[in-house]
Amino acid sequence: MNTIKHIGILSSGGDAPGMNAAIRAVVRTAIYHGLQVSGIYRGYQGLVDNSINTMHSSSVSNIIQSGGTLLKTARCRDFLNKAGREKARQNLQEHGIDALVVIGGDGTFRGAKVFGDEFGFPVIGIPGTIDNDLYGTDNTIGYDTALNTIVNAVDKIRDTATAHNRLFFIEVMGREAGFLALSGGIASGAEVVLVPEIEDDYKQLHDFLKSGYKKGKNSSIVLVSEGDEIGGALRIAENVENTYPEYDVRVTILGHLQRGGAPSAYDRVSASRMGVSAVNALLDGKAGIMVGLVNHCIAHTSFGDALKHKKPLNAHLLEIMKILSI
Ligand code: F6P
Repeated sequence: MNTIKHIGILSSGGDAPGMNAAIRAVVRTAIYHGLQVSGIYRGYQGLVDNSINTMHSSSVSNIIQSGGTLLKTARCRDFLNKAGREKARQNLQEHGIDALVVIGGDGTFRGAKVFGDEFGFPVIGIPGTIDNDLYGTDNTIGYDTALNTIVNAVDKIRDTATAHNRLFFIEVMGREAGFLALSGGIASGAEVVLVPEIEDDYKQLHDFLKSGYKKGKNSSIVLVSEGDEIGGALRIAENVENTYPEYDVRVTILGHLQRGGAPSAYDRVSASRMGVSAVNALLDGKAGIMVGLVNHCIAHTSFGDALKHKKPLNAHLLEIMKILSI
């Protein structure tokens, strides 16, 4: 029999557009099922610091359309220590919270797994990060919005690149994963993408630079994933400028603007689905899992599996990039 009566919700790690839609879904689903729900502020730090408030349906009114996170977020060092986690457990007990929903990326789930295992506390994860680097879900919340932000920015840079016949290196986020760069490259018609997962892409860049100039291309865009093994866009651009003085090279680092803005419709719907499913999973007695979307259907993956496996880049997308950029 289900014994959960009071759910705590938090967002942790880097914010991602759509986190608010997920928070709204969790709060309203909990209330729909007659449960109490409390918001924990600044991720695990709020658990440790006892920054916890009751939430009502109206607490999440008018937030589905905004980026960032109503509950704020943080990367919490205290939670890495047993003493910090013990403090968090005491605070949860004091509030009568008997289950947690955490929204975030791999760091968030690592914390959730340790905490769940240590205290036998039910925790469900919702994948929220623009990087899309979590195994067990096709898309993480925020990825689609960030991708659209990148494409909008690259379209604008393409205008000026074409006007000046320039070669632009545009650096995008993604940490050690190239999902944003690869899909961003396909969607914006980039000539080359450099991603951490592919080792010989630097050679592809050189092949392109040798042939592109001869072909008389009047603009070229290279999307560089921030985690690329060769280095960031600035370093790569410097090397290229020295080797190919015939190119007029510029660099743009898109940076944190990729993390903000109104979530796309896709992210809002995905976040709503995952939020509802997270509460339902707790009510079904599930714990220690991430709720994701695989082939458009809700899928559950244990934190252990989500953390153990590296999500590969889609081989079909890599092929498409290669074919379409000739
Ligand atoms: O994980 C999301 C992300 O935006 C990464 O793409 C990026 O490397 C990192 O967070 C930046 O983190 P911070 O905002 O702490 O500088």
